[in-house]
Amino acid sequence: MTDVVERAPIASAAVLREVAEGLSRPQKELSPKFFYDERGSQLFEEITRLPEYYLTRTERSLLERWMPEWIGSLAPRALVELGAGSAEKTRIVLDAIAATTESAVYVPVDVSAEFLDQTAARIGAAYPSIDVVSLVADITDAFALPAGLPYPTLHAFLGSTIGNFAPDDAVELLRRVRGRMTETDRFLMGVDLRKDPARIEAAYNDAQGVTAEFNRNMLRALNAMTGADFHVDAWEHRAFYNREAHWIEMHLVSPRDHSVSIPGAGVFHFAAGETIRTEISAKHDRASVEAMFAAAGLAIERWMTDDDGLYAITLAAPR
Ligand code: AVJ
Repeated sequence: MTDVVERAPIASAAVLREVAEGLSRPQKELSPKFFYDERGSQLFEEITRLPEYYLTRTERSLLERWMPEWIGSLAPRALVELGAGSAEKTRIVLDAIAATTESAVYVPVDVSAEFLDQTAARIGAAYPSIDVVSLVADITDAFALPAGLPYPTLHAFLGSTIGNFAPDDAVELLRRVRGRMTETDRFLMGVDLRKDPARIEAAYNDAQGVTAEFNRNMLRALNAMTGADFHVDAWEHRAFYNREAHWIEMHLVSPRDHSVSIPGAGVFHFAAGETIRTEISAKHDRASVEAMFAAAGLAIERWMTDDDGLYAITLAAPR
């Protein structure tokens, strides 16, 4: 055996098609799901600890403040979490569930089987009364829940990840959640709120440049996944608040007029200064959340924000 390993490109035909399609639009685009390879997930964890990035710590304190009461009155026997990731904030929800019921089932849903296995093992060890049944699925697809989940079930989508979806896609995702709910089930969501654009822009342009590195890492991930030849460090990070659409958008700016070859997807030309949009992160208010929920067959039952009105957690019921 040699210790030199040639890493073969691992992108599926579907991913290559998606990349090609996104880079063929007038405004070139890549899905934010490509941020989260191992290094990207680490960089995101780093972002959550930045002074400018208020989202994670505000959501955490809201969950700590309200979960005992919300969970206490719902008494869920199961928790289905979309995009579970490392499930760190989930512990606050699981603590409240473990305190109200003798046994429960936790179903983390994530595309990354590797991440899920780690999460399942950690949570299983920390909560003897909770059965962990992990589910590998793309949360934007239709997927079936494990048969015979105890009810009521709490469905959760935390971290304001709903903001990464264009309005129609967000409603479609919520409609699918609604489709998996019974009458007594509830849906818990965390959402970043509209506020002074300067505050939002600061959260996505941190002084240490971690977000810039996170953004550029998408190209590094694509190089590894496809054998593409993006000159990663030459691309510039740009994030700005779109006041009409109420979302922040992140772009990568091409340093010069050049072409990039992505084996299996094609050769793509970039003018100097041309951008790839890598993420939108929509900001909401109670009315916009109500509207999304209504379109998906859901209604707000509880809504709580922090004192500064930065962030909200909400509980929705089928209507
Ligand atoms: C994890 C998708 C909620 O949109 O704020 C952080 C990702 N992007 N900094 C967000 C992210 C740039 C984050 N979400």
